This record gives sequence, C-alpha cells and structure tokens, in this order.
Amino acid sequence: MWCSLLFLLQLLGVTTTEEGHWEDCKYGHQGSESHDRKPFCSWTCLLFTLQWPAGFCQSLSKEIPCRIPENINTWTIHGLWPLHVLSCCNCWPMFHSDIQQLEAQLTERWPSLVKTKSSFYFWTDEWQKHGACAACVEGLNSPLRYFQICLKLRGQFEIHRLLEDAGVTPSCERPYKVEEVRRVLAPHLGDEHEIQCVTDNKDRQVWFQVKIPLSRNFTIGCDHNSDTKTDPGPEWAFSSGHPCPPQVPFYYFPINHEQPQQPCR
Ligand SMILES: *[C@@H]1O[C@H](CO)[C@@H](O)[C@H](O)[C@H]1NC(C)=O
Repeated sequence: MWCSLLFLLQLLGVTTTEEGHWEDCKYGHQGSESHDRKPFCSWTCLLFTLQWPAGFCQSLSKEIPCRIPENINTWTIHGLWPLHVLSCCNCWPMFHSDIQQLEAQLTERWPSLVKTKSSFYFWTDEWQKHGACAACVEGLNSPLRYFQICLKLRGQFEIHRLLEDAGVTPSCERPYKVEEVRRVLAPHLGDEHEIQCVTDNKDRQVWFQVKIPLSRNFTIGCDHNSDTKTDPGPEWAFSSGHPCPPQVPFYYFPINHEQPQQPCR
C-alpha cells in the first residue's frame, strides 16, 4: 500500500515526510508498525534452517495433516531468516513468474509438508516474512536471488550424508545423544549450529530441525547471542521446537511416506 502510494508520489515529484516508509519498501523493511523499529538493514546474522521431514510431521497437531512427497527422502529447506527483524513487509509481492526457472529445484528441495498448503504458498510466506527483509543485501535483493541463494546453501549442507557417513542413520529404536550429533555436524555447520527437537505424544524428543547461523556474506557462523539478549525476535518462537536438551537422547525417525505422522508404527 505505502509502496505504491509513495512510488506514485515520487513519480509526481511530491516530497513526503514518510521517507522512512519508502526506504523500507525499496530496500527491505524492518517493522515500521512497531516502536521497536531498528535502522534500515541493521541485522547482522542470518539463520538458514533445514528440516527433517519425519520430525517435522511430529511437530504438527493431529488436525493438520502432514505430507511427505514420494521423492522427498532427505533434509529440506525451511527458510533463510535475517535475525531479529521484528516484522517484514508484504509490500514486495512475489509471483510464480519470479521463480519459474527454479520451480523444479524448489519443489524437490523446499516442499510444503503441510498437506493443505501448496509449496508455492510456503515459498511466498517465507519471502514475505523473511526474504523481503533480507533484500537489502547483495545477492538477496529479489525473490529469484533469495531462492537461488537458498538452493545453493542447501547444496552446501548435505546433512543426511554427513550423518550417514558417521553412522547416524534414521531409526525407530535407537536414540542419539546431542553431543554425538553435534560433533559430526560442527566441522561443517559451525559450533553455533542448533539441533532442534519437538516433543512427541509419547513424550520423546524428536529431531526435526537444524539452524545454521550465517554472516551477511553467507560465511558460516555469526555472533548472534549479543542480539538475542536485547531482542529475542519472533524467530525463536516461530515453531513449537526447542533446542534438543543435552541430557536427553533424541530420536531421528525414518521417513514414512504412507503414514508420515506415524513413522514407527
Ligand atoms: C564475512 O563476514 C564476517 C563477519 O562480518 C567476516 O569476519 C569475514 O571476514 C567475512 N568473510 C569474507 C570472505 O568476506
């Protein structure tokens, strides 16, 4: 709304006192509705988040059916989020045509696992919630570039293979220790990566997600803890997930395409 209005005003050479809003729309917006508004593009860290489909399905309540497409047998993308951006604008719409050339890859790497939501809906949602806020950085400044970078990052982090090579394979019976898995992943994802679990209906810890902190230049690792204290941001409350507790072994369930919510019947 503001974007188009202000754009029109600018075209007409009308000066406006709402310069800030215009800047937001053009370069990636940072929570203008809130009094916590930070200076333009002030974020320093990104979180690249990957999900394990079998675990993700455990994070959904019974009423929300999960779907794991036949061709999905590995970790998929959840999103790439600039940290501690309070709210993003939906003044940068995204259309099918913006990402057409990536659609096949996105469908394979970034599927919606919620049966009632299309993958395109998922991508659009991630772009509007997170991507548009990240668009002030070179390489991320359009939907196409944002999704290209995400696919590239996904290619860089072959978690499934790293784990498999270390003997950490999906299992209904064998729980894993946090430390054991972190030791495998840290050389590749950095020491600050976070292994996230959900609690299933049998009160077990189930692995569903990995968060990988990145700097603005996409190098692994980012000192986001100093930010966290002053501003926890919505990202941490995004899902019902939590860091897998170090003392409790967790499950890395196998993918079951027929019964995604009950992988271990
Ligand atoms: C990327 O950013 C980090 C943190 O700002 C910096 O320490 C590092 O030198 C940068 N790396 C490159 C290749 O620019």
